[in-house]
Amino acid sequence: MLTDTMHQAQILLPTPDNLSQLQQLLLQGELVAMPTETVYGLAGDATNPAAVAKIYSAKKRPPRNPLIAHYASLEAAAVDVEFNDIAYRLAKAFWPGPLTLVLPQKPDCRVCDLATAGLDTLAVRVPAHPIAHQLLTLCERPLVAPSANLSGQLSPVSAHQVLQSLGERISWIVDGGGCEKGIESTIVDVSTDVPVILRPGSITLTMLRAVVDTVQDFNPTDMHFPKAPGMLYRHYAPACRLRLTTDNPQTGEALLAFGEGPLPQGFDIVLNLSSEGDLEEAAAHLFAYLYQLEQAGVSGIAVMPIPDVDVGVAINERLRKAAESVIPAKAGI
Ligand code: TXA
Ligand code: MG
Repeated sequence: MLTDTMHQAQILLPTPDNLSQLQQLLLQGELVAMPTETVYGLAGDATNPAAVAKIYSAKKRPPRNPLIAHYASLEAAAVDVEFNDIAYRLAKAFWPGPLTLVLPQKPDCRVCDLATAGLDTLAVRVPAHPIAHQLLTLCERPLVAPSANLSGQLSPVSAHQVLQSLGERISWIVDGGGCEKGIESTIVDVSTDVPVILRPGSITLTMLRAVVDTVQDFNPTDMHFPKAPGMLYRHYAPACRLRLTTDNPQTGEALLAFGEGPLPQGFDIVLNLSSEGDLEEAAAHLFAYLYQLEQAGVSGIAVMPIPDVDVGVAINERLRKAAESVIPAKAGI
């Protein structure tokens, strides 16, 4: 039996025996960091307020920021939220996969109020990763799972990265290797007549519009009244300065490059998100490379421009937040 006597989280392989023990721990209200196709999530029983409280406390997450409930199937999600035609079409097209839908809760929704921050909607998603899927199937109930990092830090895309961020605050991490997409799910609010992207991700506007042509684009200037409360908070911050320009390289500064070049010269370390200029490859590398540079102790990160189309929109949203997080906005200065 897995025991929780270590001060440091244990990294476990996804063997059938380990997964069934983790299922029992989850049902007892324990937390498990698990891989998904987007990023690692810190999973807990969505129906158990004590488990949900542990998630907020482990992550130091602001309590007003609601969580996404994860399900094994569309049918399981439909137990807790009211699907409409648009939601159903999007779910059919993209689930299992990196799409989160915000929908009205049913009156008898099993997800506890603590997880939804008192909202009458619920964000739901059916992940495609086989390990997440197995745990969800075994538990036969929704699991809430925010990204498995301390609030405000980079989202983790490996078990090791979870260990670095939350290792002293949680007990169990399932190792599923790297995350295929590397960037969090696209969130679409389908609770009102006009569906709108609240957080860009690897399911792009073009992909969504091919299924539902009325989907409205993510609007970064809507941030004063964001419908996804998490978009308000400090986010995606590497431990060093990050800028979206590449002039005047500084001592010890790294270049986060994109494309085949020519690349700006004079940087001590260069990591290329995609030398072929492939945006999906760049998204998959984004958090892993930022983390690698943070670990290497660089003095700063200068980022080359990334085309603001397709998944580039999601990449740029994360990079803008990372740049703003490190140097707080100084009004008037
Ligand atoms: O890819 C993902 O979505 C990952 C993996 C682990 O599934 N999870 C993730 O969760 O990114 P988190 O907690 O880091 O981000 C959830 C976002 C937050 O911005 C939150 O405010 C928003 O979803 N959200 C949750 N419930 C919402 C709701 N009812 N209405 C609007 N936004 C909501
Ligand atoms: Mg997060």
